[in-house]
Order: sequence, then structure tokens, then C-alpha cells
Amino acid sequence: MNSYRPIMDLAGEVCFKPTFWQIKARVNHLITKYLSYQIICDRLEDLPVQFNNPQPRSWPSIDWSTITSEQIIGIELEVFLKILQGTFDTEAPIRGYTQTSRQYLEPIHPTMARFVGGTVDEQDKMLELGLWEKEERRHAPALMKIYQQLTRQKANPNLRKPKIYQPSANPQLDLYHHGLHRIATEYSAVCLYLWLMSRTTGTIQQVIGELLEDEINHMSKFWGFGQWLYPIPPKSKSRMRGLKHLATTMNRMTRVLHWDSWAMTHKIELIYSFSFVFKQMQGWSNCLTRDYLQSIFASPSISEKK
Ligand SMILES: [Fe+2]
Ligand SMILES: [Fe+2]
Repeated sequence: MNSYRPIMDLAGEVCFKPTFWQIKARVNHLITKYLSYQIICDRLEDLPVQFNNPQPRSWPSIDWSTITSEQIIGIELEVFLKILQGTFDTEAPIRGYTQTSRQYLEPIHPTMARFVGGTVDEQDKMLELGLWEKEERRHAPALMKIYQQLTRQKANPNLRKPKIYQPSANPQLDLYHHGLHRIATEYSAVCLYLWLMSRTTGTIQQVIGELLEDEINHMSKFWGFGQWLYPIPPKSKSRMRGLKHLATTMNRMTRVLHWDSWAMTHKIELIYSFSFVFKQMQGWSNCLTRDYLQSIFASPSISEKK
């Protein structure tokens, strides 16, 4: 009798010496599980609820002491640590990111500005944190804890300077470009965490899964909101600018993640994740009708439309 019982984790069947096809199956499993149209719609429909009563998504308790390097599947520890370092360097200065986004949103949509960056007084002193900031600010510490658990050393993030608010005479267009950049960043985080989950198991995978769910939540909300606010891109050249934003984000990402030390298979797997997540998001956004978006966003509490 065949007694083979596959070991399963959040990404499906665990394979300790995986081929490209096995990782592809794990990535597909994760897309089906975490990025179904139903889930993305649910995350988008949650936005007006959060405008009225902002509540961060709670994380289950995590037993950090159970993290070991055996939970990394087929990535050299040294390379994995470089990826972690690049990731928490990018996630770390969250306050700067949220405040820049808040400033671009304020003239166009104060409710969304509050959701993203909270509220400040006349001296720019924080009065209340935005929900986006509350959820994002747990990411760098979580990644640093994984790093520390694996190395038994303190993780030191290299703090980068986020882009500051640079308004032009056209706030609509400023927000459009800033928003594209923001969506590209959330999307890149989703693709990276999804691929990392396919290459990990156990507690490391569980932690990355929490980050993934947060990033999917934000990406869905920002993407849908952008589609509602800009049914037609403000300028004919804007699509090209959009692609440029995406290329810049990906370029920066490969640099901070020390892409040159990656195995070719890992590079191909990440590119695969990028294309299939995009396909999924594109398929979803093509199904969004004007009426549907209106039904979500045209509530009395969200009246600040352009
Ligand atoms: Fe994040
Ligand atoms: Fe994010």
C-alpha cells in the first residue's frame, strides 16, 4: 500500500528540493488562495467601512522562537538574509511615505488622505495615525525579527529618504502620478511576499503570509480607488508614465534585493509571480463596472469627489 502523504503548508505541497514547476504550482496555489476576485472585491468594499471606523486587521499570535533556517526552501541563507535586509530597508521609513501620500491626497480626497496618513495639526504634528500607516508599520519589525532569529544578531535597517511632497499647479495630475507609484510599490510587495511564501514554510511562511495579506488589502483598495477616481487617465501620455513608474519601482527593487546574487531559477520564479499577479489584477479590474465602483464609493461619507 502506498503510504506517501504529502506535507502541506500555506502554499500547497511542500517540496524541499523544488523544481521550477513545483514552485510555479505553489505560486499558483497562493494566487488562488489569497488573490481570488472574491477576496480582492471584499478588500475594496471594506474601504468605505474603514473610512467610518478604521480598524487595523489583527494578526494571530506568532511563535517567533520556532523560526529556523530549515524553513527556507532552496535559497542560500546568505541570499535570503540579503533579501530580508533589502525588504526591511524599504518598509522601514513608513512615516515619510504616509505623510507624502496624505499631502497629495488632501486637496482631492480628504477622507482617503486621513485613511492613509491620519490627521495633523497646523504645525504638522500628528494628531491621529492613518490606518495604512498602522498596518504598514508592523512590517519592518516583523521582517527584522525573522532576520534576528536566523542570525542571532541585531538587524540594522538602512533608513532611506522617502520622496517628499512636490506639488505642481495641477493636484489632480500630481495625485495620479503619485498614486501610480504607490500602487506599483504595493503590487511589488505583493509579488515579492507571494514568491517568498512559495520558497518558505513553517513560521517564516506564516509571518510573510501576514505581510502578504496586508499588502493585498492595500493594493486592492488603492487600485480600485484609483480606477474610480480616474476612469480616464488625465493625459494621453499618462499610460506611458504609468509603465515608467512600474519600471522604476522594479528597477529599484531588484537593486535593493541584491538581485545579482540570486540564482537564475529564483529570478525566473519572481518574474513569473509578477506576471501572474498582474494578470489576476488586470482580469479583476476589467470586471469592475462604473456602477459597482459608484456603489462602493458614492456613499454620503465619501462625498469629496473631484
Ligand atoms: Fe509593507
Ligand atoms: Fe505596502
